[in-house]
Amino acid sequence: MGIAVLASGSGSNFEALVQASQEGRIPAKITLLIVDNPQAGAIERARRLGISFEVVDREAFAQRADFEAALRTHIDKSPPALIALAGFMRVLSPDFVSAYPNKILNIHPALLPGFPGAHGIHDAYSYGVQITGVTVHYVDEGVDTGPIVLQEALAVDPAKSEEELEAQIHQIEHRLYPEAVRLHLEGKLKVEGRRVSSLRTQ
Ligand code: GRF
Repeated sequence: MGIAVLASGSGSNFEALVQASQEGRIPAKITLLIVDNPQAGAIERARRLGISFEVVDREAFAQRADFEAALRTHIDKSPPALIALAGFMRVLSPDFVSAYPNKILNIHPALLPGFPGAHGIHDAYSYGVQITGVTVHYVDEGVDTGPIVLQEALAVDPAKSEEELEAQIHQIEHRLYPEAVRLHLEGKLKVEGRRVSSLRTQ
C-alpha cells in the first residue's frame, strides 16, 4: 500500500516525501498526488518526479460533499496506507475523516495549538513569539486540532525576516514529516485519546 498526498500549493513537502521514499527513509511509495487547485506548483513537481496526479478542482463542485466524493473515488481506487495532507487548504468533513480513521496526517508550520489556520508562520512571527516550530498531527474534524504526533521547536532569531523564518520552518518540515510518516507506517504510533505515543528509533 502506498501513500496518497493531498496538496494545494507549491508542494515542497510533497517533494520531500517523495525524496524520502526514494531514499528508503519511508517504507512505502508515494502513489498518488491529488490537488484541489489547477494552479498548484505541486503538479509540476509530480510531473518531474513521475508521480501520478489528479486535479480535483474544488471550484468545479457546488457542494463539499461532491468534491469529497471525487477525492474518495481517486483515493479508494488503490487504498493507501496513509493520506498525507501537505499544504492542503481545505477543511475535510467529519464524513471524510471518519472514512480513514487514524490514517490522515497533516503538517502545520507552528507549534499547535498555537497559531492554527492558514497563516501559521505569519501569525506567529507577527505575534512576536520567541519560540515557534512545526507540528505533525493526525487529522480530526477540527482545524489543526487532531492528536499531535511530532513537534519540533525553533528559536526565532529577532534579526531575521519573516521570509528567513519561513525558510527555516520549511527545512524542519521537510525532515519532520517523513519521520512522522515512517513512524506511522512502521506501526510505531499508538493513539489513545489525544495522546500519541511513539517509539522513535533510527
Ligand atoms: C507548509 O508550511 C505546511 O506546513 C502548510 O502549508 C505549507 C505547504 O507548503 N500546511 P508546500 O506546498 O509543501 O511547499
